[in-house]
Amino acid sequence: MSNPNFKNPRAEHGFVGRTCSISAVGSYVPEKVLANAELEKLVDTTDEWITTRTGIKERRIAADDEYTSDMAARAAKRALDRAEVDPSHVDLIILATITPDMPFPATACLVQKKLGAHNAAAFDIQAACSGFVYALEIGQQFIMSRTYDTVLVIGAEKLSSIVDWEDRNTCVLFGDGAGAALLQNRENTHGLLTACMGTDGRKASILCQPGGGCLHPASSQSISDRLHYLRMDGQEVFKNAVTAMTTAAREALARCEIEIDRIKCIIPHQANMRILKAVGDRLGASENQVYSNLERYGNTSAASVAIALDEAVEQGKVERGDLILLLVFGAGLTWGAAIIEW
Ligand code: UT7
Repeated sequence: MSNPNFKNPRAEHGFVGRTCSISAVGSYVPEKVLANAELEKLVDTTDEWITTRTGIKERRIAADDEYTSDMAARAAKRALDRAEVDPSHVDLIILATITPDMPFPATACLVQKKLGAHNAAAFDIQAACSGFVYALEIGQQFIMSRTYDTVLVIGAEKLSSIVDWEDRNTCVLFGDGAGAALLQNRENTHGLLTACMGTDGRKASILCQPGGGCLHPASSQSISDRLHYLRMDGQEVFKNAVTAMTTAAREALARCEIEIDRIKCIIPHQANMRILKAVGDRLGASENQVYSNLERYGNTSAASVAIALDEAVEQGKVERGDLILLLVFGAGLTWGAAIIEW
């Protein structure tokens, strides 16, 4: 039954009789650990700088022959196993990533094959670090519109393949991994109550991978100009991230007519512990409301909140019926806030 203590905005939009539940989540991170001490040997940095400026102690790096599709399939399989759903029953796979196995076909198609989900339609979406919340909302819309009953939503990244390992400003921040959620049309349960998303394309250049598209196709020039690596103006991104995630969170809370103290667990995009703290403080949240695994994985872009959600559930930080606030921010610029009744 719908919880009477908060408003479910979906109920007012003609979705009566249709409910999208997050049946299960799953995640996967590669085995290889890259600790700050090892980065000291690659670039001019220190464990002390990385820890105090970001909160990151180590990150996971995929094996040379391990790709975004492999990590995505492993995370998705865990979610399917937990929900006891056979891959053949999946109707749709939506994969959010900025590190597809190749420009086309969509990595979701490769995941479909690896899972044996042969009855599923599959496509990728790209909203950078905000991708998982965007994909959740899209998946929910397919269920609410009666198009599909079972949708896999995945965020997966092999960021180690686009990080410039000679640039200390960025290479210390990122890691690899994947997280997944299984959405199903099931009665008397809730998933996403609301999702607020935003974009500011005027600031696209502050965080991007300039090469590899039609603007700068691969050439010996684009390679020598290092255009195929991720570039970021860290301070600009920092400021925009704090403002956008705080604003989106307030909008999502207002839509559900609840205060921040009703949220059991806030799961922000794991970019920088100073960003997490600034957003938590501005929202008036207590420290133990805010979930972080940043010190172990760094920033895994579209996989970030998906992995954290899986861990929060596994660790018993949330139980069925609790409210969760996901907050995301990334290149685009893109951002979003989603409230989930778990
Ligand atoms: O997922 C998308 C979202 N991404 C983010 O949210 C990232 C947001 N930005 C950040 O997290 C922070 O801006 C950074 C962690 C990237 C940088 O922290 P900062 O406090 O903004 O440092 P800064 O860029 O102002 O750099 C301060 C100093 C500079 O030296 P000078 O110019 O003052 O001499 C940098 O060159 O720190 C230097 N620096 C480093 N020193 C040691 C930058 N990176 C490193 C490093 N090791 N790895």
